[in-house]
Amino acid sequence: MEQERKIKTIIDCVNVGKVFQTPEGEHEVVRNLNFSAEENEFLVLFGPGQCGKTTIINMIAGFESATTGKMLADGKKIEKPDVSRGVVFQSISLFPWMTAMQNVEYGLKIKGVNKKERQKHAQKYIDLVGLNGFEKSFPVQLSGGMKQRVGIARAYCNEPEVMLMDEPFGALDAQTRYMMQEELQRIWSSEKRTVIFVTNNIEEAIYLADRIIVLTNCPATVKKEYRIDLPRPRDLVSEEFLALRKEITGILDSSQLEG
Ligand SMILES: Nc1ncnc2c1ncn2[C@@H]1O[C@H](COP(=O)(O)OP(=O)(O)OP(=O)(O)O)[C@@H](O)[C@H]1O
Ligand SMILES: [Mg+2]
Repeated sequence: MEQERKIKTIIDCVNVGKVFQTPEGEHEVVRNLNFSAEENEFLVLFGPGQCGKTTIINMIAGFESATTGKMLADGKKIEKPDVSRGVVFQSISLFPWMTAMQNVEYGLKIKGVNKKERQKHAQKYIDLVGLNGFEKSFPVQLSGGMKQRVGIARAYCNEPEVMLMDEPFGALDAQTRYMMQEELQRIWSSEKRTVIFVTNNIEEAIYLADRIIVLTNCPATVKKEYRIDLPRPRDLVSEEFLALRKEITGILDSSQLEG
């Protein structure tokens, strides 16, 4: 008997368009974009460089507003940033004058949580991202991968309903990037959250996603959608993985392929 599964939509992007006004005139970056993210789903937005990915994340985060259409979180229009939507940025964005611990507990501190409570909570996420022993290190003392781990722990520490991750591993070397993908897969499996993850790397997309939304070149709109049912952790060189990679790469224009 088929089990009934209640699907709860967390983020809903409805006919969203975004046009920037620039000195050169109007710049249309997103056009008629429609997708939704379900509770605890790992959704990947896969699109070429400069197609409008960060703009989409910024609209979901509430940093930017849609020009047309609407972005909804739990059915309500997104109008400003909210702690229920945590962001891990494309460029590493830690406070350089704070230790790893202080960076991670920052959100709780501004919420007024007392020091003992927030450190206990922050420690859980520092441990989860594998940074035990580096609590007192300053960002300058950490490698790129470690800094992004702090960024992930910081976002998780606020217990957001949805995590928005904008190419968090884009600046890392290939080896560190693979390691971080494995780590994130492990973290997501142990602390389920709705994740909207942006990348322009097809392997990363298939390795992590429950579902991949393939975006077009700018102005970004949905080109195609793929549900990825491969068991986790995924084997990057399995026949199924490589076949999917070939299929998805096959629908892209040559201008959409990475490097
Ligand atoms: N505030 C802004 N004003 C005007 N144009 C903007 C603004 N923000 C972004 N753009 C333009 O929108 C387009 C898409 O930018 P965006 O950063 O969303 O793309 P992206 O897919 O995230 O790029 P990348 O792959 O480099 O991360 C670019 O041409 C960019 O110059
Ligand atoms: Mg971007």
